[in-house]
Amino acid sequence: MITCSAPGKIYIFGEHAVVYGENAICCAVDLRTRVHIEHDESAIISIESVLGKTGIDFEIHPYVSAVIERMREFASIKGIRIKIESDIPVGSGVGSSAAVTVATIAALNRMFDCNLTLEKIAKLGHEVEIQVQGAASPTDTYVSTMGGVFMIPQRKQLKNIECGIVIGNTNVLSSTKELVANVAELRKNYPQIIGPVLSTIGSMSEIGEELVDNSDYISIGKLMDINHGLLDSIGVGSFELSSLVYAARSSGAFGAKITGAGGGGCMVALMDKAKTEAVAGAINEAGGSSIITNATEHGVMVESNL
Ligand code: PMV
Repeated sequence: MITCSAPGKIYIFGEHAVVYGENAICCAVDLRTRVHIEHDESAIISIESVLGKTGIDFEIHPYVSAVIERMREFASIKGIRIKIESDIPVGSGVGSSAAVTVATIAALNRMFDCNLTLEKIAKLGHEVEIQVQGAASPTDTYVSTMGGVFMIPQRKQLKNIECGIVIGNTNVLSSTKELVANVAELRKNYPQIIGPVLSTIGSMSEIGEELVDNSDYISIGKLMDINHGLLDSIGVGSFELSSLVYAARSSGAFGAKITGAGGGGCMVALMDKAKTEAVAGAINEAGGSSIITNATEHGVMVESNL
């Protein structure tokens, strides 16, 4: 059996602005999706996860099904059993779909000796996300494949983030597609107002690059707070997200903001490692579900090959 895993991600700065070519800083986090694959002599394909047990099924397991079809360009895939386990909250801006896509590609790559490079895995992963979602930026699949912290769109690797990271899930589902469309509409109606907001968000990543490389988390936190305010101003905030953001700040975080598309989903806070429990507790009290995590330099990897 082969087991591959891949991480989720958070945006330190820049979601939404990145859609318009502005810079963003994205960081892989130590929440992983694990994909176990073994041969099945009966030539049947089965995919099992918390969502159920299916064959190739574009309703229940769209990403894994699309990966199997794409990987048939490189290998003759007949009978396999795939089992998926994940620490990453589903559909809430932490990169669960990219992680399952990338980990499945890597596991099939290893099982069928396809010799795909990491760059190729990231590219295929992005194509699968586009196929399933209709549109997707390459950010999630790239960071999940490589691990670490990256400036997007240049794909420049920055120093790893070494402070505490707490993610707060509002448990409110939101649609990235709808939120991106709402921002596009606002930008069309008020270009003189929304254009500068998006380019200001882009400037945060430019300033943030040096702050990340200097491990200056106090200054990063201040800019994250401003980034949150700007995301709120373009309509992707919510009462629940801001409640968790304020709870995190008032319990000692360096800064806190939405991560991902917003509207619901998750926020993220950075803090001194000694304060992770306090921030996580405050997020729970404010009605969210907290997850204490770390940045990770480990992108997609083969965990076992027995
Ligand atoms: O919510 P997520 O993790 O899918 O992130 C969306 C990030 C956006 O900038 C809003 C869209 C994108 O494709 O970059």
